[in-house]
Amino acid sequence: MIPLCDPDRCAVAGCSATVCVGAGLASNDEFFARSTMVIPGGVNSSIRAFTSVGGRPYVVARAEGAHVWDVEGNEYIDLVQSYGAVILGHAHPAITAAVTQAAAGGTSYGAPTPREMKLAEAMTERVGSCEQVRFMNSGTEATSTAVRLARGFTGRDRVVIFHGNFHGATDALLAAGGSGVATLGLPGTAGVPAGAVAETMVVPYNEVPQLDDTVACVIVEPVAANMGVVAPVVGFLQGLRDECDRVGAVLIFDEVITGFRLGVGGAQAKYGVWPDLTTFGKVIGGGLPIGAVGGSRQIMETLSPLGPVFHAGTLSGNPIATAAGLAALNLLDADVYSLLSDRAQRFSSVMSDACASAGFDASFPVVGTLVGMVCGDHGPAHNFNDAKQTDEAAYARFFHAMLAEGVAMAPGAYEAIFVGIAHTDGVIDQIAERAYRSAIAAATA
Ligand SMILES: Cc1ncc(COP(=O)(O)O)c(C=O)c1O
Repeated sequence: MIPLCDPDRCAVAGCSATVCVGAGLASNDEFFARSTMVIPGGVNSSIRAFTSVGGRPYVVARAEGAHVWDVEGNEYIDLVQSYGAVILGHAHPAITAAVTQAAAGGTSYGAPTPREMKLAEAMTERVGSCEQVRFMNSGTEATSTAVRLARGFTGRDRVVIFHGNFHGATDALLAAGGSGVATLGLPGTAGVPAGAVAETMVVPYNEVPQLDDTVACVIVEPVAANMGVVAPVVGFLQGLRDECDRVGAVLIFDEVITGFRLGVGGAQAKYGVWPDLTTFGKVIGGGLPIGAVGGSRQIMETLSPLGPVFHAGTLSGNPIATAAGLAALNLLDADVYSLLSDRAQRFSSVMSDACASAGFDASFPVVGTLVGMVCGDHGPAHNFNDAKQTDEAAYARFFHAMLAEGVAMAPGAYEAIFVGIAHTDGVIDQIAERAYRSAIAAATA
């Protein structure tokens, strides 16, 4: 067994943790092997297991700014940034101070708080379509609540989703998409009964489906960020708006990634199309667990206790998560997003140059502040079938070469690259230098 604390051998500089993470006491592999004994696959979210790129994950001891350190003391420039939850960089002083102060006042009460009110005010002031928001603990909870709310509001059952979009581990949204053909009722994972997805229709991204009056809602990632980064084609989002209006269906934008990442008002402000409901997560919790559903007062008041659609949560509106979220939103103004957008462009350009000079086919599509990576010589993707053209084996080679160079990317070819406040020009230059060497290794492997 790995001993739990030895300050003399600790790999975490200046560690004063009351619960030791054991850094420096064992290797990544030893820690991970021990985790696999008590946690299925050794991870609490499947992608972290490196299944699609092969190998064993690094085990994080701590993080700061653009960097993470593993338990062996290895330093990585981190492009994962908690899959977009961390936009200000790890352990940002404003977040740490807000969390510390909130925790000192108690970690959860089971009663309303001024902080949740302030975060709701901050969000409704910034996001055009949201007059009210309800908090919960994850993006998954947000999408499942939004679907229940849309069904309760319309009195209809059918849900339309897009092939290649991801809305978390919500049963009704875990339907398998047919290749380009609308599919009804095929579960995308074991454990989801056919009945749970019998009313779920999967259609191709970037094509406006024809709806009828059995449809409760259409849920869409307004910028698809779970199949690489795929922009909505001109007219797609407005077409969805018009089609939902025509049949009286609720339009839900899943802005768990794009909300407060693409800009102050999210994707809806960028494209000028207003959904009925929006789901949030990630950035609004400053890196702590949170989710939210927002929308018009009319639809939101269909939620209990005012309306018939039940929602509850022991930790919903949690004081620490809302404190961290408020601290983050207070720092995220239009200037910051314009800086982030410039950084995303610059990142894409230097990475493309690095790969091209190394003879490694890759492109880095950008939508606002979001960047993706496509391996192979392909044109821009508009839907999941296009996105699937990416060379997953080449991505895995590049990923491992980058990791060996000290750059942590997401262990999956379809994940977005999260360039944030902590990725200064200097850090981006370092990434590009390492990318050049990694691309040579990946091209010749
Ligand atoms: C667009 C989108 N919606 C929902 C979710 C689920 O959020 P969570 O992981 O917080 O449950 C994710 C997670 O990555 C996501 O990308």
